[in-house]
Amino acid sequence: MSQDLRDQRTDDNRRILLIDDNVAIHEDIRKILIAPPVRGAVDDLENELFGADPNADLPSVTFTIDSATQGREGLECVRQANLRGLPYALAIVDMRMPPGWDGLETIRHLWKEAPDLQILICTAYADNPWDEVKRTLGRSDGLLILKKPFDGIEVSQMAHALTEKWNLARRARLQLEDLETAVRIRTRCLEEATLRLHQEIVERERMEVALRLAQKLEAVGQLAAGIAHEINTPIQFIGDSLEFLREACGGLASVLTAHTRLCQAVERAGGFEDLVGEIRRTEEAADLAYLSENIPPSLARVADGASRVATIVRSLKDFAHPDATGATAADLNRGLESTLVMARSEYRDVADVETAFGELPAVVCYGSDLNQVFLNLIVNAAHAIGDVVRQNEGRGTIRVRTSVDGDEAVIAIGDTGSGIPPEIQRRIFDPFFTTKGIGKGTGQGLSIARSIVVDKHKGSLTFETEPGRGTTFFIRVPIAGPPTEATQVA
Ligand SMILES: Nc1ncnc2c1ncn2[C@@H]1O[C@H](COP(=O)(O)OP(=O)(O)O)[C@@H](O)[C@H]1O
Ligand SMILES: [Mg+2]
Repeated sequence: MSQDLRDQRTDDNRRILLIDDNVAIHEDIRKILIAPPVRGAVDDLENELFGADPNADLPSVTFTIDSATQGREGLECVRQANLRGLPYALAIVDMRMPPGWDGLETIRHLWKEAPDLQILICTAYADNPWDEVKRTLGRSDGLLILKKPFDGIEVSQMAHALTEKWNLARRARLQLEDLETAVRIRTRCLEEATLRLHQEIVERERMEVALRLAQKLEAVGQLAAGIAHEINTPIQFIGDSLEFLREACGGLASVLTAHTRLCQAVERAGGFEDLVGEIRRTEEAADLAYLSENIPPSLARVADGASRVATIVRSLKDFAHPDATGATAADLNRGLESTLVMARSEYRDVADVETAFGELPAVVCYGSDLNQVFLNLIVNAAHAIGDVVRQNEGRGTIRVRTSVDGDEAVIAIGDTGSGIPPEIQRRIFDPFFTTKGIGKGTGQGLSIARSIVVDKHKGSLTFETEPGRGTTFFIRVPIAGPPTEATQVA
């Protein structure tokens, strides 16, 4: 809404434009509409002679009246009035105004400039019947015809009614505009709220998926310790039995050698042909030479496999071992070794692991929690390398180093992966921030890692990265344990 329109809101517009080539008419209308302010004896006499004052029953309003004697001049007045922000409410227009535009032509131009302008046509002739006026102008609202010679009361009533109509129409329009603005604002608010709601729903769904996965993993984690224990027992007696079999095989081999020598001696000496023949046939059927050659290495392979299973199970037990209520002294190098065994399936196809374990004293910590930090960082490293080598079909390297720096243990886990783009570096520790697809990343790894290292151990978790070359994360934890624990230990 224009400022002008707003300013006019309180303004009662009673501005009238007279367009008539007869100047005498201007004077008449002026007299009728601008009634004398003081009533006296002369007025009363006038009333007696000519009837009551035509304005007596009408609301008292003050008309402002401008005059033009030609249509073009009238149009210019309307333009100027609009420019000043003081439009006319009513134009009283004569029909015949030689040499210029006639009344209808004039009105067409006026309405182009001011469509709301109310028009009162004054005509002495019956040459413009109403139907023709309507047809020529294309509309009939905002228009009345007054026949000359006119009665003062008619002019006065029409001027009051038509200017009032202009004011009412404007008020209605302004209210409508206000209403439309209010509806627009409300609609925009609603749209924004809907959009926010939609984003929140999407975010919530993503978090629910992540949470379900985390709960499932937690359940698997809890089971893992039990399963590791379950597997450990049979693995132990498989190992014991293998040891027994290897020794037994050694014994049996010596017995067989003695038997073979006996057979050969009997063959050379002659006799017992049936028995010797049966022995030879049995040896051939069993492929004794092959068995003697292959049983020992076969047993060795079984022993090797069983020992690897035992290592994995031990790592799983170490890894999943629930922490005691407080921090306890732990061997972080061993924790890293177990974690690397556990995470092997994540990096085996894409990366080799290089370890450089320094001499670390026992670190007072929540060992199983730190193992989880190591796992999260190793899995991230494997993913980052995976992104690169999937393109160039090579292999990357995960470097794990440990060292002591002052009173802190430092663990560095580096990769030759994609690096972390600058624009997301500030967000990677945010819960649920991930650049990975559903099923591969939940965006919780680093946020959990930071909470364990920083909040729980009062250590620090930082990284250095070079996009395209790789990333190294540094974990630093106080060797003496988190400060409160240290006090307890002391
Ligand atoms: N070693 C890394 N190399 C490159 N980007 C990484 C590395 N570690 C983490 N990121 C980035 O940080 C994001 C968040 O990691 P994280 O919290 O572990 O969640 P997730 O692995 O489930 O995506 C990852 O999606 C990835 O974009
Ligand atoms: Mg991760």
